Amino acid sequence: MNEGPTIFVIFGVTGDLSQRKLLPALFSLFSHNLLPKKFKIVGFSRRGWTDDDLRNFVRESLESKKVVGSPDQTESFLAHMEYANGIFDDAQAYVNLKQRLDRIDAEFGQCSNKLLYLAVAPAFYEIIFEHLKTSGLNIPCGGELGWTRVLVEKPFGNDTKTAEKLESLLTQIFQEAQIFRIDHYLAKETVQNILTFRFSNSMFEPIWNAATIEKVHIQVFEKNRVEDRGDFYDGVGALRDVGQNHLLQMLALIAMDRPKSMHGDDVRKKRAEILKKVSFSKYSKRILEQAVRAQYQGFLQEKGVAVGSQTETYFKLPAFIANKRWKNVPFVLESGKALRESKAEISVYFKRLDCAEQNVVRFRIQPNEGIEIVFWVKKPGFEKEHQQKVLAFSFDETKLEHQVPDAYERVLFDCVRGDPTLFASTDEVKYSWKFITPILEKWKGLPLTSYLPGSI
Ligand code: BG6
Repeated sequence: MNEGPTIFVIFGVTGDLSQRKLLPALFSLFSHNLLPKKFKIVGFSRRGWTDDDLRNFVRESLESKKVVGSPDQTESFLAHMEYANGIFDDAQAYVNLKQRLDRIDAEFGQCSNKLLYLAVAPAFYEIIFEHLKTSGLNIPCGGELGWTRVLVEKPFGNDTKTAEKLESLLTQIFQEAQIFRIDHYLAKETVQNILTFRFSNSMFEPIWNAATIEKVHIQVFEKNRVEDRGDFYDGVGALRDVGQNHLLQMLALIAMDRPKSMHGDDVRKKRAEILKKVSFSKYSKRILEQAVRAQYQGFLQEKGVAVGSQTETYFKLPAFIANKRWKNVPFVLESGKALRESKAEISVYFKRLDCAEQNVVRFRIQPNEGIEIVFWVKKPGFEKEHQQKVLAFSFDETKLEHQVPDAYERVLFDCVRGDPTLFASTDEVKYSWKFITPILEKWKGLPLTSYLPGSI
């Protein structure tokens, strides 16, 4: 990548997200020569470590995740890392960090790009934003040449009100072009493929509407329980954790109109237009009647979960889009933890003709990434029986030709090159909360159903 020197600052470098996703993604980009030639990774945390402690931690972490390169490659990656000590609410720690970044700039001999990654629990966003401002870490040192960008993870807020507050704080400190709101589902190869499939194959677009489509089912199923994230997950719940973002973003990609181009704001605008039309008020009765929220048995015993917690670990509900194209077509959103299998897929069901058979277009987001079209043929023989067949494309077939990048590689890569297409805009976040918040409100105090792990 032909970019200037760049410093990646990871707040929460020792946390789960950093270990599981960011560090492996940075290493993979490095080993494919996709990071800027000159770069540093500064890990910010409160463990009082040295640079070597951080390097040992990252080495072990990469090994345990089976991210392997040649020993030389790993060591030369680790040599780019530095440790910055501090707690998130200590103003001095940010002053020190700023001095460190200035020192690295001096070593590079120029003002470098700064990518500030908030890999921390959302509870820390506000305090970090404030200190970024007071320390001047939000200000790019070189205009166009030495940019400063901030990457924020979801959940962005807890409901409409808190998201607005956060947004207003964030936009006081950073310009919109500096802000990259992550929804890593948008960065999944198979999710990006939805737009190519829809808009590069002329046979689908004319029938992609309520006249032909009966319903769309969007599922993100996980076999895993909350693991060691009980603390974070309790009080957040499945609808906020993945419904407000990943599932609604997939809905937007399935339902949006053709953008002027497949880049940047053109795509974001069209996604936002659809999210704006996902209406609770118009369809509240149908949504609430059909909505299911449940908790797996054993959730209350998970570490970090409050006694008597009413947090849902599973939900299923229909969303409707208040426009002509999608009139009365349910987009069923369904997700949960401790389910029978792990899969993410979108099934588009077509209306039946005068027969029982139904066509389905299925986007398999993961695992076994690909696309399937279910159709019907005559069964060979003397009878008039039909049989179901599947036309299938699998990403596996292309693996030898192209490496499929991990979503977090894509997130980091696009942030460095300043491409906002796969990040949520402020409007998208706003409209998603507008749909989700009243459902959460209505759910308050309603009894939860429970399910046995693996039973759904
Ligand atoms: C995250 C959620 O955004 O997405 C997690 O916070 C969830 O709870 C994860 O497990 C699922 O992502 P993926 O890429 O593993 O399907």
